[in-house]
Amino acid sequence: MNVDLQCEMQRRAAERVARVRIGAAREQRVRQREIAERDGGVQRGRFRERRAARVAAAFEQIRRELQIHSRAEEEIFYPAIKAKNGAESRKLVSQALKEHKDVNELLTQISRLKPTDKNFDEKMETLFENVDHHLEEEEGEIFQFVEENCSAEELNEIGRQMEERKKALDRLLAA
Ligand SMILES: [Fe+2]
Repeated sequence: MNVDLQCEMQRRAAERVARVRIGAAREQRVRQREIAERDGGVQRGRFRERRAARVAAAFEQIRRELQIHSRAEEEIFYPAIKAKNGAESRKLVSQALKEHKDVNELLTQISRLKPTDKNFDEKMETLFENVDHHLEEEEGEIFQFVEENCSAEELNEIGRQMEERKKALDRLLAA
């Protein structure tokens, strides 16, 4: 074998070894990226799961508080207002009942969704808007009506009964 040919063969062999090494290194990088992506995906998935669980727990808490609010008012506060028997009290109570119904309907709709569903946040936003609006009305017009039409004793009694009922409902809904 002449020297030139030997050199050429060694060169080609070295090239082939290099190509194989480059190929192996590239393959290794691809594999590492796949593993990283998979791990990242798993981590993102776990993060989303944990977030979804926290949001679901927070929603359950909100739902319970709103249910207690509505039921205690509907059983004690609103009948007491209606007993005042004016056209104004009936109007205020019927408006408040409609708002409770809307809030309740939203709670039912949201309870059927998962926090990861695309319209969950939107529905929660609507729920908060409705609740804010309702509480504003209640703290404004209704409380004003009550202050003008109920005696201090009546107010104390309504307050006492409401507290009692809320505690009982809290225990009931926690069970
Ligand atoms: Fe209310």
